[in-house]
Amino acid sequence: MNVKERIDFLRKDLEDHNHLYYVLDNPEISDFEFDKLMSELINLELENPQFNDENSPTKKVGGKVMDSFKTVDHQYPMLSLSNTYNAEELQDFDERIKKIIDVPFEYVCELKFDGVSISLIYENGELKQAISRGDGTKGDDVTENVKTIRSIPLKLREDFVANFEIRGEIILPKEAFNKLNEERERSGLEKYANPRNTASGSLKLHDTKEVSKRPLDCFLYHMLGENLPTNFHLQNLEKAKIWGLKISETTKLKSDINGVIDCVNYWEEARHDLPFEIDGIVIKVNNTDLQEELGFTSKFPRWAISYKFKSEQVSTLLNEITYQVGRTGAITPVANLESVQLAGTTVKRASLHNADQIAKLDIREGDVVYVEKGGEIIPKVVAVEMKDRNLFSHPTKFITQCPECNTELIRKEGDAKHYCPNSENCFPQIVGRFEHFISRKAMDIDGLGVETIELLVKENLISDISDLYLLRKEQILPLERMAEKSADNLISGIESSKKIPFERLLYAIGIRFVGETVAKKLANHYTNIDDLMNSTFEELVEVDEIGDKIAESVISYFSQDKNRVLIENLKSHNLCFVAEEKEKNLSDKLESMAIVVSGVFTNHSRNELKQLIEKHGGKNVSSISKKTTFVLAGDNIGPSKKEKAEDLGIPIISEEEFINKIS
Ligand code: IVH
Repeated sequence: MNVKERIDFLRKDLEDHNHLYYVLDNPEISDFEFDKLMSELINLELENPQFNDENSPTKKVGGKVMDSFKTVDHQYPMLSLSNTYNAEELQDFDERIKKIIDVPFEYVCELKFDGVSISLIYENGELKQAISRGDGTKGDDVTENVKTIRSIPLKLREDFVANFEIRGEIILPKEAFNKLNEERERSGLEKYANPRNTASGSLKLHDTKEVSKRPLDCFLYHMLGENLPTNFHLQNLEKAKIWGLKISETTKLKSDINGVIDCVNYWEEARHDLPFEIDGIVIKVNNTDLQEELGFTSKFPRWAISYKFKSEQVSTLLNEITYQVGRTGAITPVANLESVQLAGTTVKRASLHNADQIAKLDIREGDVVYVEKGGEIIPKVVAVEMKDRNLFSHPTKFITQCPECNTELIRKEGDAKHYCPNSENCFPQIVGRFEHFISRKAMDIDGLGVETIELLVKENLISDISDLYLLRKEQILPLERMAEKSADNLISGIESSKKIPFERLLYAIGIRFVGETVAKKLANHYTNIDDLMNSTFEELVEVDEIGDKIAESVISYFSQDKNRVLIENLKSHNLCFVAEEKEKNLSDKLESMAIVVSGVFTNHSRNELKQLIEKHGGKNVSSISKKTTFVLAGDNIGPSKKEKAEDLGIPIISEEEFINKIS
């Protein structure tokens, strides 16, 4: 055996032993023997640098020191999940899905690992890149650190697909965490707060040797790519397991939501026996065609949700209840607490939600209360310790006047919140509207922060959004902490926002319930503000994915004179109220046709078909009505949709017929 052959043999042998030990938990040789083989390979590689391989098992022991991490784009955004906390909310999730798809489907239940998420990119069976989540769109390239994690293979085994991405969670097992903390205590160092933060901190270390000393582990739970082995989430993960990737044995298929609820109940107790921490269960629709059909809201997939276990609670003293006014005038009562440690952070304030919540729990100033971290960043007060209540305490009276502008508050029927109706002159509402308008996903105005907005409003330089476009440099220069350069930046930031496309401007003006996704849908459908302003409720609900609540809110917004004046003013500053000319249509064969796409298709994805409809001049609509021209149906269109189309005499056409129609 020559040197190259010995190197190749050792690499393959060590990969196999890594897999047996860290993925299958079934070692065949002792640690001593493993270390001996590893040091032989390290020496041979040092002596023969011409045979270097970036994915050799020796990379697992580290050795590289990085100055900084490169920021890279995610090919697919790394989204998080919306949360549920009880069986009822899981039933709601199931019902929401069944409103969109009416064919049988299955769920997959997975552990919700409490660690840091990671995206691994494999090309031709080799680990090419590992990217941290970052802001979901861009993350850090942490490949070198990730290579040291023993259960992440640098090379795959057997019939893998050429290109794919697989996402999962890097965790630090409980025992390793405790050991690390014992060592730190012995060395007089401050202890780490929890395994999740420690895993996250480890990934950010600059010396890979240090990372390799942390016994991190990684479970993978989501495969993405163009040519995946199957159209089922779980079956793809099973393939990944054969390729050598670590998939949890606990992942299970469930035939309905009751099965999911049983699973959630089981893990509520059993989680304490796991060697690592989990904070819930993730529930996903297994069929990836159906996942595609369900799609995403601007923040979350509609095909998956997380169920969060009851979180840690602590008790503390409630010193005072204060009230916050949001951009829409909504009043949120806030509990100001005696500082307390909760799940690794110091908590001083907690949300009390609304008047009903205060009344339901009978929360009073001076009470000892229990605080819990929910899905939101701000913790919430969940209960009062009645036995500690002061005999002379008074029930809380919810304020009747706005704490900021003294206007009488209103509470509409069916609304949980009180509102301050003085939207024109109430300071936090004015500032809140600007904050939303300039935010990154809206007009993204550089050089303008909340503090500057507050100053500009206080100085009466701006009061409605369109005033921004009247600002001159000499007006802002005298403001506190405003230098020549920052004033220039601000003015040029405002100027360039005039080019922001219609859909983002529509989101920016802050119509209630018109989030990013809805704004996009409306902008695509109407293509200009005038048509949207003049649209009726009936026309709005016909638009793909627009329901009653959104339609009502749009109608109510444009029925107010002040909003129509605002739009006219913004128009006069040349903001983009017309959608960009889309690429020229391929044809007008579907001109003025309203088409419903339903079911699963053989040759095109649902999105591709929807795009084809638009490219040929047609409009996608969400539900079947008299106005529907035809239903484009997959093999298994649900029975209720079929029946409705037949009742109304709407033609149902197949994928093939559709393609013929537009060819
Ligand atoms: S799926 C679009 N599955 O929880 C799919 N996430 O709140 C998104 N997580 O960001 C992720 N275990 O960091 C998924 N089995 C699991 C998970 C999991 C833990 C984390 C992940 C994600 C967050 C969602």
